[in-house]
Amino acid sequence: MPRPLVVGNWKMNGSRRSTAELLEGLLQRWQGVHKAEVAVCAPFVYLAQVGRQLADSRIRYGAQDLSPHDDGAYTGDISAAMLSDMLCSFVIVGHSERRSIHRESNELVAEKAAAALAAGLTPIICVGESLEQRESNETLQVVEAQLKAVAERIGAERYASTVVAYEPVWAIGTGKTASPEQAQEVHSFIRRQLGANGADTPILYGGSVKPDNAEELFRQADIDGGLIGGASLDAEQFTQICEAADRIAD
Ligand code: 13P
Repeated sequence: MPRPLVVGNWKMNGSRRSTAELLEGLLQRWQGVHKAEVAVCAPFVYLAQVGRQLADSRIRYGAQDLSPHDDGAYTGDISAAMLSDMLCSFVIVGHSERRSIHRESNELVAEKAAAALAAGLTPIICVGESLEQRESNETLQVVEAQLKAVAERIGAERYASTVVAYEPVWAIGTGKTASPEQAQEVHSFIRRQLGANGADTPILYGGSVKPDNAEELFRQADIDGGLIGGASLDAEQFTQICEAADRIAD
């Protein structure tokens, strides 16, 4: 079983001051050696600050997106090499907000995953269906197509160097969580899709994970932790979710 992992996705939130306070709160609560691994994905502009504040801790960090290109005339974009240079460990690719708001295709997401891997970063590859797709019973097909595009680009054997996050779009920021059974069904499907190379790939669940539902979700056979939005902006709530992940490793 992969080591449990909890990642905070701060999205477009925070200021220098609130970032400092949030990390301070987290560092006070999440000290020493734990079985679960913890990371936060911050807005680009705060990565230097996050790096300084987390330098002597075991909490890792990353970004929420990257360019598929190496360098050059791509105004406003941030490359994988830049994230590596900022000592990021992770980068989220294909979050549903980028797929919908920025119209990112499965192929572009695959290019971004490849760019991340080439720079030594661990891509957190997000997949998941919309409400409409779930209601028309297309969930597994949608997730399969999203994963297949990545496998074709990076090679299925590279799944071993990635993290996959299942985030049903209808559960993100809505307070509606997939039931543990609904999530497990898709997670076990993802595990089979990853094949032999995915046996140790953490598969995270994301979508309205809170302290009171985290443990039950994380106890499912193929759920290895969470990708946390809203609750990751609160040091106490986020720590409680990390503690739930620690308990499933017992
Ligand atoms: P919420 O936890 O706020 O539902 O967000 C989930 C998410 O999108 C994490 O990437």
